[in-house]
Amino acid sequence: MRITETGDLWWKNAVIYCLDVETYLDWDGDGTGDFQGLAQRIDHLAELGVTCLWLMPFYPTTDRDDGYDVTDLYGVDPRLGTPGDLVELIRTAKDRGMRVIADIVVNHTSDRHPWFRAARQSTDNPYRDFYVWRSDTPPDTSKEVVFPDQEQSIWELDEKTGEYYLHRFYKHQPDLNVANPKVRDEIAKVMGYWLELGLDGFRVDAVPFFLETIGAGDEQVEALGDPHDYLRSLRSFLGRRTGSGILLGEVNLPHDQQRLYFGEGDGDELTMMFDFIAMQKMYLSLARQDAGPLVEALLARPEIPRDCQWATFVRNHDELTLDKLSEDERQEVFAAFGPDPDMQLYGRGLRRRLPPMVDGDPRRVRLVYSLLFALPGTPTLFYGEEIGMGENLDVPGRLAVRTPMQWSDGHNGGFSPARPSQLPAAVTGDGYGPAHVNVRAQRRDPDSLLTFVSLLVRRYRECPELGWGPVRVLDQPHASVVALCSQVDDGTVVTLHNLSPDPVSVPLRLDLERAGHQLVELLQDGVTELDDRARADVPLDGYGYRWYRVLGPGSRQLA
Ligand code: NOJ
Repeated sequence: MRITETGDLWWKNAVIYCLDVETYLDWDGDGTGDFQGLAQRIDHLAELGVTCLWLMPFYPTTDRDDGYDVTDLYGVDPRLGTPGDLVELIRTAKDRGMRVIADIVVNHTSDRHPWFRAARQSTDNPYRDFYVWRSDTPPDTSKEVVFPDQEQSIWELDEKTGEYYLHRFYKHQPDLNVANPKVRDEIAKVMGYWLELGLDGFRVDAVPFFLETIGAGDEQVEALGDPHDYLRSLRSFLGRRTGSGILLGEVNLPHDQQRLYFGEGDGDELTMMFDFIAMQKMYLSLARQDAGPLVEALLARPEIPRDCQWATFVRNHDELTLDKLSEDERQEVFAAFGPDPDMQLYGRGLRRRLPPMVDGDPRRVRLVYSLLFALPGTPTLFYGEEIGMGENLDVPGRLAVRTPMQWSDGHNGGFSPARPSQLPAAVTGDGYGPAHVNVRAQRRDPDSLLTFVSLLVRRYRECPELGWGPVRVLDQPHASVVALCSQVDDGTVVTLHNLSPDPVSVPLRLDLERAGHQLVELLQDGVTELDDRARADVPLDGYGYRWYRVLGPGSRQLA
């Protein structure tokens, strides 16, 4: 890796930040966040060091799935602003050195989308085939539904035409039929449209469902061929239109199946994918205070094409899914971090944010974020994580973690001057409410979580080895310690994380050819000399963490 390459393959050591415009900052005072508000806070994101902003769906919507139920794929939800406001926002973000990507939701539309409204008029409507229909009674699919609290089947009877349509998610979200070439043309046009307005790529919703062809006509399926060829064609379309745009895919599958979605060879399908497996194993490791599950997951990651990347995360906007753990493992994590049934969702996840899960213990919160930035991959933050926001369990379902951003200790946490009843969700209260957790206070506090996360971002960006390097797990005797070494050419970074409350001393043995190396602390002051055999004993506090740059004699690296 040359440092200049980090500018080309920018996503390999980016810092991604996900937010919903609706809950970020309400500037016009109507209770709903808006693009003008977000533009006002671009400097918060720039100071934090974010390099890529991910906007959750901002399209016109019936808002029955928080914007993932789109009624116009070419529009902007008027509550959030105008297309002009969006363009101004993108422009301002770019001025601050940030790229902007957005959710593209094309597995399904809202049932109020004009295509579906037309499609359900009659079986011979020109839009009928934009969706997937069957006339016979579907079998029992209750085990296949994504939201078991709401749905019993992935097929819904449409009364008017007497046929059933496919919906992988809610019944108000009919699945688009990608086997139909007209649908594929529209999807490319939608992508092209937003790219022209300045987006740098997309977070692609529900990729495996989007690509599946169940229920589509045999001829169409045959003509489509391998759905991965289709994904490949979308990626090359994106490449032609932008040069360096990305597709960041949501593919919650076991690692070996996920690998297929990066594409063969140089990686010509999804540019990035979230590592759901490592995320789930990280929580298991934290619950057990045992590095084992996380380290095993990292080592079991399939090799991916050089230009591709894993997106690592602690929290996203959905339930914190634990669906890839065994039942016993899941129960362990539930017991440790969400024992109350009200904290759990769909029998597979938690509707909590990290700080309350670890009882607000600042050592553990910092440990986890330090670990996130140290993991091989590109860290992805969910808004509010930088200040340690908690969830509001009074807000139903997944929305518990999508409460308004807390900017100050003022009215509605500084999010909006409107009446609380006008907000998209109630502001979090009690110990995690704005009186205790807000940006304004933390900006001024050198010891705040915000200051700490900003430091992590800065150091992560200064250590592209963490994003690029093949990672090595260092041998050491403590089960509770994650000891990683990322090396690219002459750059080496070592990170240590102690998942247990007990202090330990870690005997580090680095595999270095020459003597005279030093370990230079990256998160605090200090230098440790390695002995002639590249060894040193390093103390780690309970829940402690350390990052080191390894400097050889005469090295000109800045540390
Ligand atoms: C995945 C999104 O992350 C989730 O929030 C949404 O409900 C489903 N896709 C359906 O669009």
